[in-house]
Amino acid sequence: MRVFLAGGTGVVGRRLIPQLIARGHDVTATTTNAAKLDVLRGTGARAVVMDGLDAASVAAAVANARPDAIVHQMTAISGNPDIKHIDRWFAATNRLRTEGTDHLLAAAEATGVGIFVAQSYANWNGRRSGGWVKTEEDPLDPADGTAAHPQWVAIHHLEEAVVRAGGAVLRYGGLYGPGATDDQVELIRRRQFPLVGKGTGYSSWIHLDDAAAATVLAVEQHAKGVFNIVDDEPAPAAEWLPYLAKCAGAKPPMRVPAWLARMLAGEVAVIMMTEGRGFSNAKAKRDLGWQLRYPTWREGFRAGL
Ligand SMILES: NC(=O)c1ccc[n+]([C@@H]2O[C@H](COP(=O)([O-])OP(=O)(O)OC[C@H]3O[C@@H](n4cnc5c(N)ncnc54)[C@H](OP(=O)(O)O)[C@@H]3O)[C@@H](O)[C@H]2O)c1
Repeated sequence: MRVFLAGGTGVVGRRLIPQLIARGHDVTATTTNAAKLDVLRGTGARAVVMDGLDAASVAAAVANARPDAIVHQMTAISGNPDIKHIDRWFAATNRLRTEGTDHLLAAAEATGVGIFVAQSYANWNGRRSGGWVKTEEDPLDPADGTAAHPQWVAIHHLEEAVVRAGGAVLRYGGLYGPGATDDQVELIRRRQFPLVGKGTGYSSWIHLDDAAAATVLAVEQHAKGVFNIVDDEPAPAAEWLPYLAKCAGAKPPMRVPAWLARMLAGEVAVIMMTEGRGFSNAKAKRDLGWQLRYPTWREGFRAGL
């Protein structure tokens, strides 16, 4: 297949290109930065400059590539993490998930591309009521009244638009693997990533290579609908954070009460660590025949760190 990868230089794109090529696909991958074209070409992909926020740029890049499938991996999360002002931190990502998605879908329609796979998110953001582990049937948490609400709006837009167009939405868990958790591990080593309250909030994790493998399957199988791409072990912060610290050779995380965390890191950090809901991967395993190399973060964190 000819696969057009929008966002080929990010943590997912870099692991996805080799897997697509190994399966015999012909990959055109994008960057906004001409200085990265050679790096992309070095992975075996054709490389093009494209701005996902510019409809004309997207239309031209897709038309030139004449792909069978489009994979949307455009985010703009690198830079300084700012959980307290996550709305500002994610402003460009939210635009890529709304306007960027619309531009890619329009280009897909104009060029007759039948297969569309887009990145979404299923880490701690399940609806904060009922059980601690959510399926694709359960709604995501709109985080009303918090700085995470715009992120939900953007994700909701992406998911609706992609499903309506007959594509697949892959809700990746918290990504880890080469380059994916460097910022968090640095904070953990400096003991600036504390457990909040009792650390009862759940997260789901996924290794980059497992996320990439699921993405290849979704492309090849022309998958439609929403899939949680997470590992087998959703877990509360009280379990995964001290374990991650240990794997990173750091001291155990500090503990801070919710009121203090709210002051220092904002409401979203408190929600994540005390009320977060994780996700089940049963559908992706069943429908895509997806098998995980790292079924739990316990193996993956240890292997990576
Ligand atoms: N589920 C999750 O947990 C999750 C998901 C995504 C990311 N992250 C985390 O976020 C951090 C940064 O991720 P990342 O390295 O993938 O970087 P990123 O800054 O989020 O960029 C991802 C991709 O989007 C592209 N992109 C950015 N702006 C664009 C635009 N206007 N038009 C078209 N493409 C655009 C980037 O290309 P260029 O910069 O080359 O233009 C890159 O290929 C990592 O720590 C990662 O683990 C986590």
